[in-house]
Amino acid sequence: MSSLQRGLVPDSAMMRTIMGHFGTGVTVVTAMADGEPVGMACNSFTSLSLDPPLVLFCAATSSSTWPKIQGARHYCVNILAEDGEQLCRTFASKPAPERYDGVGYSKAVTGAPVLDEALAYIDCEIVNEFDGGDHVIVVGKVVELGYREGSPLMFFRGGYGRYQV
Ligand SMILES: Cc1cc2nc3c(=O)[nH]c(=O)nc-3n(C[C@H](O)[C@H](O)[C@H](O)COP(=O)(O)O)c2cc1C
Repeated sequence: MSSLQRGLVPDSAMMRTIMGHFGTGVTVVTAMADGEPVGMACNSFTSLSLDPPLVLFCAATSSSTWPKIQGARHYCVNILAEDGEQLCRTFASKPAPERYDGVGYSKAVTGAPVLDEALAYIDCEIVNEFDGGDHVIVVGKVVELGYREGSPLMFFRGGYGRYQV
C-alpha cells in the first residue's frame, strides 16, 4: 500500500483532485424551461430524506443551465447506465441547445425530460435552495420515480468506469 499524502492545502485544484477520489455515479439533471429541454451532467446528486422524499444536487453558480432549471421550478435526475459516457460528455460540454440532438426522451410528471437511456430517474419539484459557496444546493421533493435493470456508469479520479462486484 502506498503511503498517505497528508497536510495538503485545500486550494481549488487540490479540492478537485481529492474529491475525485470519492467514486460516484453520474447523472444528467434535466428540466423543461419555457418549452425547451435543458440538462447538465452532475455527480453531486445525493439522496437526502426518505419521509418526506427529498434529494439534492449542487449547481455551479457559473452554470448557464442552472438558471433555466431554477426558473422551471422542477428537475429530473437521470442516473446514467454503464454505456452512458458519451451522453455524460455531451451534457457536460456541448453548447446547450445541441445537447439533445439525437437524444430520445419522454416527459415525467413535472414535464422534465426522462432520457430513454437512463438507468433510473427521480423527478422533483424544487422546494429549497441553499448557498453553497460557488455552488447552490438545490433540494427537490420527489414526485415520481422509475428504473430498469442494468448497471451504472461510475466516475472516479476524473475518469469513467464500470461497476464491478
Ligand atoms: C462527471 C461530471 C460531473 C459533473 N457534476 C456537476 C455538478 O454536480 N454540478 C455542476 O454544476 N456541474 C457539474 N458538472 C459540470 C457540468 O456538467 C458542466 O459544467 C455544464 O454542463 C456546463 O454547461 P452549462 O453552462 O450549461 O452549465 C459535471 C461534469 C461532469 C463531466
